[in-house]
Amino acid sequence: MRNSGEIGIIGLAAMGQNLALNFARKGFRVCVYNRTSERTEAFMRDRVRGEPIVPAYTLEEFARCLERPRRILLMVQAGPAADQVIEALLPFLEPGDLVMDGGNSHYADTERRMQALAARGVHFLGIGISGGEKGALLGPSIMPGGSPEAYAMVEGMLTRIAARSEEGPCCAYMGRGGAGHYVKMVHNAIEYAFMQGIAEVYDFMKTALGMSSETIAEVFERWNEGTLNAFLTELAARVLRYRDPETGGPLVERILDKAEQKGTGRWAAQSALELGVPTPTLTAAVIARTLSHFKGDRERIGAAFPWPDRRAGFPPETLADLEAALNLVVLVSFSQGLWLLHEASRAYDYGVDRAEVLRVWRAGCIIRARWLGFLREVIREDPEDPHLLFNARFRGEVQGRLPAAGRILDLAFEAGIPMPALSTAVDYVLSMRRSRLPANLIQAQRDAFGAHTYERIDRPGVFHTEWEGETHPPGVG
Ligand code: ATR
Repeated sequence: MRNSGEIGIIGLAAMGQNLALNFARKGFRVCVYNRTSERTEAFMRDRVRGEPIVPAYTLEEFARCLERPRRILLMVQAGPAADQVIEALLPFLEPGDLVMDGGNSHYADTERRMQALAARGVHFLGIGISGGEKGALLGPSIMPGGSPEAYAMVEGMLTRIAARSEEGPCCAYMGRGGAGHYVKMVHNAIEYAFMQGIAEVYDFMKTALGMSSETIAEVFERWNEGTLNAFLTELAARVLRYRDPETGGPLVERILDKAEQKGTGRWAAQSALELGVPTPTLTAAVIARTLSHFKGDRERIGAAFPWPDRRAGFPPETLADLEAALNLVVLVSFSQGLWLLHEASRAYDYGVDRAEVLRVWRAGCIIRARWLGFLREVIREDPEDPHLLFNARFRGEVQGRLPAAGRILDLAFEAGIPMPALSTAVDYVLSMRRSRLPANLIQAQRDAFGAHTYERIDRPGVFHTEWEGETHPPGVG
């Protein structure tokens, strides 16, 4: 199939293999290459069944296999591997060719690579792909960013392999530069927060209410019928129901309570801090995973730090309150992520259309949820407003659930159950609705010890006061 491959895929780990099969089953002629040829051979032998997929065993052969201009999708490990592959590939590329990075790359790396390749006349797209291995095979959610011309070269192909919702294919141009990977990063940060919220209500049901995994699974299944209908809600139920073949008990209870991360959640938190956008719930979810790692320390401190056991006498509405609380975490996480996206788009000139982002997240991706349709309507009512909380319908959904969330937080404290996603979500709403915060006292103290100045509420200007008494900590000159 010399010169006839419509798309080339480099990197045949699970995602690369499944995307290759997905393209081929949609009728596209695919060339594949992997650094280690055994993986290519195994793929061709074990998984390819007559689909139009041709293997290449050198990059030169791979480049020859593709029609011009070439369209090449990298599915290699994010980080230095992507740079190494691009470097090795460049001698075989020609101006007008297109390289796409479908890995979880950092948006700044994507912009750097885009500029480096532009200097050689090669187009580059950073493509966020969500949906896991199954999604890659059956229809992922696809978030491409870069130049519109580059996107036009693959729009037809990407929309063909993407998941579909009632609002169309889950693939759309996300914006300029690193927009695609930025949007994917925010997607992952929301995913972290959603999962943390689910973990917290599971902990509450297990620890405070003494419910079995089976019963908790039933609750998630019921919630999945309502407003919490979402891939992650459904998955929680499925995972909780799964029985360990060895012990016969729920496998989830045999799993070590240390949560891993690959970096996208942390990058989102870092980016939010750099841009000065408060995303406490997204950040709390990252911190909760980090904290979970200190298993030995937690055991040591816990043994010396008992908490009174209180399991009896929960009010009957507790489960309904928990459902409301999880809804609140989800809504607030989305509102924080979408504010971050708004500010990042302005700061980096991405030109992101958040309504399109929500449409692309409707199906195929990990955070797909019933709420997305509603959130899209809210954004479309005022696309330029950074805050969902300013929208009356959104505010109504949040406000109505706050009392329940507050009751859960009271009970959680009594039972000694940490709920960082829920408590930050409530704090966030309480802070954002507060026209006056105690930051005046912070400013006064800053001015007192460091002459950092302050502004006044009753007249314009910048002020400094010689505060009376000792304003330096002892020992500081
Ligand atoms: P997994 O953990 O599932 O293997 P991954 O580590 O994210 O997935 O990605 C691995 C893919 O990146 C593989 O295709 C790997 O090629 P090999 O099969 O040869 O290991 C590819 N990869 C990683 N580093 C690479 C590099 N420096 N150059 C080329 N390909 C690389």
